[in-house]
Amino acid sequence: MGKERLDKILASQNLGSRKECGLLIRRGEVAVNGVIVKKPDAKADPEVDILTVKGGEIRFRRHIYLMLNKPQGVLSASRDPHAPTVIDLLPEKLRRRGLFPAGRLDKDTEGLLIITDDGDLAHRMLAPKSHVYKLYHAVVDAPVTQEDIDAFAQGLSLDDMVCLPAGLGVLEDGPQPLVWVKIREGKFHQVKRMFLARGKTVLRLKRVQMGGLPLDPALAPGESRELTEDELKLIFNLANLY
Ligand code: URA
Repeated sequence: MGKERLDKILASQNLGSRKECGLLIRRGEVAVNGVIVKKPDAKADPEVDILTVKGGEIRFRRHIYLMLNKPQGVLSASRDPHAPTVIDLLPEKLRRRGLFPAGRLDKDTEGLLIITDDGDLAHRMLAPKSHVYKLYHAVVDAPVTQEDIDAFAQGLSLDDMVCLPAGLGVLEDGPQPLVWVKIREGKFHQVKRMFLARGKTVLRLKRVQMGGLPLDPALAPGESRELTEDELKLIFNLANLY
């Protein structure tokens, strides 16, 4: 990355706008390698120099990685002239950072979505060969039978593909049961099409986990937060799975 202006580096790490970061610097609250620097246009290399703000070290991140609990009714896209997108849900300061969803959920599907500006990670996670598993909870319009479970486990045939073996189990029985589904691929409308192949309609669908990364239950629909260091390691491991 090389050397950059200090105010620009701090702003890139979500410490405030460029102007706010400039003020922090002028107030003497920022140090480079232990030396207070008061000029916002002073240069530093965030991958080499140790930057501290108010005494706390900045863990420099080249990219942004967010977990979003996607609500129903928004598109998994960066921009759309007609409908709200997942990017529109993010805090104002993140909306112009070139972020995009790493993967897609249907407009009416809820749950875990990773949003990033790291095209390489997104590409690796979504590569057909990566087979990162995804866990969904679904409400379907008819009871799920042992035959359904066996058919999912064997690999269902759809119009244009044979699915990899998938897991299916009942969480809450009833005329419209709540079930879990675990798949290792993510073709267009895949879960809905798998149930349709068994004569059932998905009434509600929520992604609750990708690989070892669960959706944070503290996130209400529409809320997002940055991934922690441990969660980041998890998704990077996932992305190397192939
Ligand atoms: N399967 C679907 O049918 N829809 C989704 O959004 C995700 C998986």
